[in-house]
Amino acid sequence: APLTFEVDRRADVRPDAEREAVLANPGFGTHFTDHMVTATWRKGEGWTEGKVTAYGPITLMPSAAVLHYAQEIFEGMKAYRHEDGSIWTFRPEANAARMARSARRMTLPELPEEDFLGSLRALLEVDHAWVPPYDGSEKSLYLRPFMYASEAFLGVRPAAEVTYSVIASPAGAYFTGGLKPIRLWLSKDVSRAGRHGTGAAKCGGNYASSLAGQLEGIEQGCDQAVFLDAETETNIEELGGMNLFFVTRDDKLVTPALTGSILEGVTRDSVLELAKDFGLTPEERAIPVAEWIDGVSSGEVREVFACGTAAVITPVGELVWAGGSAPSTAGEGGGEVTRAIRQRLLDLQYGRADDTRGWLTRL
Ligand code: COI
Repeated sequence: APLTFEVDRRADVRPDAEREAVLANPGFGTHFTDHMVTATWRKGEGWTEGKVTAYGPITLMPSAAVLHYAQEIFEGMKAYRHEDGSIWTFRPEANAARMARSARRMTLPELPEEDFLGSLRALLEVDHAWVPPYDGSEKSLYLRPFMYASEAFLGVRPAAEVTYSVIASPAGAYFTGGLKPIRLWLSKDVSRAGRHGTGAAKCGGNYASSLAGQLEGIEQGCDQAVFLDAETETNIEELGGMNLFFVTRDDKLVTPALTGSILEGVTRDSVLELAKDFGLTPEERAIPVAEWIDGVSSGEVREVFACGTAAVITPVGELVWAGGSAPSTAGEGGGEVTRAIRQRLLDLQYGRADDTRGWLTRL
């Protein structure tokens, strides 16, 4: 039977004026809605205790396995308000499927798709007022489902008790400064993921391992780091929180192939699907970083952009490394193709374009 979520509405929900002030200028990842979802899994029992309660601190034993061995996964999605006031999300079955794949890799229990969707609906039922009003900007309610080993036990083995949760955070643009191209740092000494490792899983550990490269980049005045494959240190993988795309002179839309160490982005997959609508040929393959650097000077690489649920599509400018750099091809506000694909994606998500692929689900 599907998991049910018992609702315990908090008495002290924030007043309308306070919520509206947050929604007018949400930023990213700092404000949270009034409620959260939790559910518990126990070995031999399965999923139980679905609840919607007040957003607030959680109680864990100091010995909880997640705090020691990082057995944790998460998802990133958005709820969009359309002009008629209805609330929709984008390809949630893809997020549910990816969370199940991440769970298998991290020996966590799978949450059935219907319960995954049910948990989002349960939260939106009480917190729908936190989905920013439709105003033609890119505001949304960022949804963060996550799952972690909550069992209090220090032995190293798959946990026998696991907690699933969903929190939600009103979101504006991930990068401030509009469509200003981001400056990327080529991380040479820090790898994000290795062969047969966890790179394709959306687990916290991948993000933790990317931070040293990210910090190096920030110290060099960059916005994000680019990670190369750990085996040959030659091919571009991803940014740690975003996938990368290249628009070539001969109208190809090229992105690194999924090698097992790259996050299988839902936005990445959607962009590949949309390529044909723009007369572009999608191509997934190994992309040596030299091809980017040389391609910028030869004109072979016309545009570079990053994509993800949080960042949507963001133009990439300069690529910087210790002792050198490749200039931007993005101009002031990103290249023509970057802006067109970004606009199409937003039009689909906000219900302004025909959803011919059935990507939208009403919440
Ligand atoms: C996303 O939801 O796009 C992520 O990958 C997480 C992070 C960059 C906020």
